[in-house]
Amino acid sequence: MATSSVFCASALSFLFHFLLVPVFSHDVNVLQKCGFKAIYQLGDSLADTGNLIRENPLSPYAWFPYGMNLSKPTGRCSNGLLMIDFIGKFRYSLFPVCLPARSAKLPYLDAYLNPARFFYGGCGGVNFAVAGSTALPVEALLLKNIMNIVTKESLSTQLEWMSTYFNTCSKDCVREIESSLFMVGEIGGNDYNYAFLFHKTTEEMKALVPEVIKAIEDAVVKVIGYGARRVVVPGNFPIGCFPVYLSQFQPNDTAAYDEFKCIRGLNSFASYHNELLKQTVEGLKKQYPDVIIVYGDYYKAFMSIYQNAQSLGFDTKSIQKACCGTGDDHNFSLGRTCGDFGVPVCPNPDQYISWDGIHLTQKAYQHMAEWLINDIFPKLQCSS
Ligand SMILES: *[C@@H]1O[C@H](CO)[C@@H](O)[C@H](O)[C@H]1NC(C)=O
Ligand SMILES: *[C@@H]1O[C@H](CO)[C@@H](O)[C@H](O)[C@H]1NC(C)=O
Ligand SMILES: *[C@@H]1O[C@H](CO)[C@@H](O)[C@H](O)[C@H]1NC(C)=O
Repeated sequence: MATSSVFCASALSFLFHFLLVPVFSHDVNVLQKCGFKAIYQLGDSLADTGNLIRENPLSPYAWFPYGMNLSKPTGRCSNGLLMIDFIGKFRYSLFPVCLPARSAKLPYLDAYLNPARFFYGGCGGVNFAVAGSTALPVEALLLKNIMNIVTKESLSTQLEWMSTYFNTCSKDCVREIESSLFMVGEIGGNDYNYAFLFHKTTEEMKALVPEVIKAIEDAVVKVIGYGARRVVVPGNFPIGCFPVYLSQFQPNDTAAYDEFKCIRGLNSFASYHNELLKQTVEGLKKQYPDVIIVYGDYYKAFMSIYQNAQSLGFDTKSIQKACCGTGDDHNFSLGRTCGDFGVPVCPNPDQYISWDGIHLTQKAYQHMAEWLINDIFPKLQCSS
């Protein structure tokens, strides 16, 4: 969502393999059973590993402090790695069918728009997620006077990229689709972010939800059409706990906050989206009994981190503050966000959950990925 205009060159992420990623030994077993040959990711800034910055090199995500914990900025909206990096890490070392150069050394999903992708032929999967993307097409949102201030891409354009990719990829890649994991989201969070930004009423917000859910459902049907056998459909975060929302809404009434000091109404709104999405996933499972479709509970994963913040090593005084940002209670102000000139970064990002008020730190994403791997992978029924 940040709109600052730091000029910079776009990053070349093929140098990225010098990074060290922590290994979660206790999670390897569940993942090993799946042995995915590829992961195909659709989504927004929670998963973008370098698409937006290829389209818009002026994006702050293309420049430090974004990626400050990596060897260089990659377009990831965090100080370091994202959930998909931790989930995707286990693909090839288990099934080294790809080029040797890729096998253990490059465990990351290449962004579709990253030219370096062509050196590897997309083996192991492709990431179509674009930071700022919405579930509904840009034109559909414009009809409601909601503007996408970040990108012209939406879920529908990502699906077109995916279709183009599958139509032009090698025979191997077509065979791989059946033994691949498809991540359809998280997507839709930005539709609501922009709607809030353009001051939509509560009624308008609620009316938007079924449309967003329908777009996600259509996307799941499309990927099943491309041959997907295992699909994860993640829901939305408890946005009422995020500095961006806490600092914008600031309700005075203490009853407006829950026991975690998160804004009740906003979390209920996220839950409403998530409940509809879960129902939709149940419907799709009945419609496609041969496909394994699993709801990805980002809400619960986040709350589990929130509730266990102290034991996980986060600074409990800072769980509602952005590590990178300026501003009063939550270290966030929309007019001066992370990446803008002179905006400070905390010295200890590992003790913060929120990186920039909107996105999470690598540490928070790592804990979320651990929670999700344990929750989702058994449901993918890989041993059967
Ligand atoms: C990120 O960088 C900071 C500052 O150098 C360091 O304290 C922290 O441990 C690093 N975090 C990770 C996950 O590498
Ligand atoms: C909270 O109180 C302040 C001061 O009384 C007021 O200016 C502000 O508009 C109130 N905020 C909301 C969301 O009602
Ligand atoms: C916001 O973060 C910066 C960088 O760590 C820090 O200097 C500042 O004191 C923080 N402000 C608050 C209110 O926490």
